[in-house]
Amino acid sequence: MDMPFYLENVSHRYSDGTLALEDVTMSMKRGERIALLGPNGSGKTTLLLHLNGILKPTSGKVHFDGKPVEYSSKALLELRRRVGFVFQDPNDQLFAPTVRQDVAFGPLNLGQSAQEVRRVVEEALDTVGMAEYAEKPPHFLSFGQKKRVALAGVLAMQPEVIIMDEPTSNLDPRGTSEILHLLLRLSRERRISLILATHDVDMVPLFADRLYILNKGRVVSEGTPRELFSDTQLIRSVNLRSPRITHLFEVLRKEDGVPVDERLPLTIGEARREVLRLLGILQDDLTGGSEVVSPWRHHPPIKNKRG
Ligand SMILES: Nc1ncnc2c1ncn2[C@@H]1O[C@H](COP(=O)(O)OP(=O)(O)OP(=O)(O)O)[C@@H](O)[C@H]1O
Ligand SMILES: [Mg+2]
Repeated sequence: MDMPFYLENVSHRYSDGTLALEDVTMSMKRGERIALLGPNGSGKTTLLLHLNGILKPTSGKVHFDGKPVEYSSKALLELRRRVGFVFQDPNDQLFAPTVRQDVAFGPLNLGQSAQEVRRVVEEALDTVGMAEYAEKPPHFLSFGQKKRVALAGVLAMQPEVIIMDEPTSNLDPRGTSEILHLLLRLSRERRISLILATHDVDMVPLFADRLYILNKGRVVSEGTPRELFSDTQLIRSVNLRSPRITHLFEVLRKEDGVPVDERLPLTIGEARREVLRLLGILQDDLTGGSEVVSPWRHHPPIKNKRG
């Protein structure tokens, strides 16, 4: 069955009585990139913790790879090898005396040979660009560097699914963009399925095939970024916002009567095409001809579909 995760009516009540998830049904196809969006306290972290068995549903079921998740320690070990979790705060994840030892911890526990462990650790540190920090104690690293090491630790297990809780929180713009591109590369080159919780709505359209919007522990909507961000009422009703660039085009349409396409641009790349299209129309109207004439003929061709 080509579906790593299927959550069936999952509810979770913490021991103090808080109902953090209520009747959540969601699915994830192999290789898919999913973003969970929702205000603070909406249940995103609680949901993610169900995916690798850290939390168990109070009611409902989590299925992984076509089978209900079992909670014996042996089954959980296997689940956690296949489903890696990068916590929001890397300080909750890193504990070994050096970066290398930290990343090697998982593979060593799997009983891999020293040579194999060395290989996967080198590769994982290379992938996240942290090879030169291998001998450093993790607690001397910056937050962004720790986050990469935590991701390397997960990659060293060669997982099928990676879960990340707020992968870009507390990262500078460059760190954010690097993590985003790294995740996209992992998804494209290794077909790792990715699911992340985030508040970074500007990043979501670049990253996600599909989103789930959570509010008060419930899934209030599911769809592509285009479908969900077009529903501005929904987005506002759950205290979220659209990507900034989308908002700009919404204002241009509403306030200035600019004939912006119904499907508002979600990314800089889409906005760029829309602006050029609008400029073309303008030229067209002025000349009365049918050819779309851009005043910047020598513009590089626009290829990038997602950017
Ligand atoms: N260990 C716990 N015990 C009791 N209640 C908890 C516990 N962890 C979380 N909660 C509650 O469960 C609800 C969902 O919390 P959760 O951390 O899943 O939200 P979130 O969407 O990840 O929020 P944020 O965007 O702030 O990270 C909140 O009301 C929170 O107070
Ligand atoms: Mg959270």
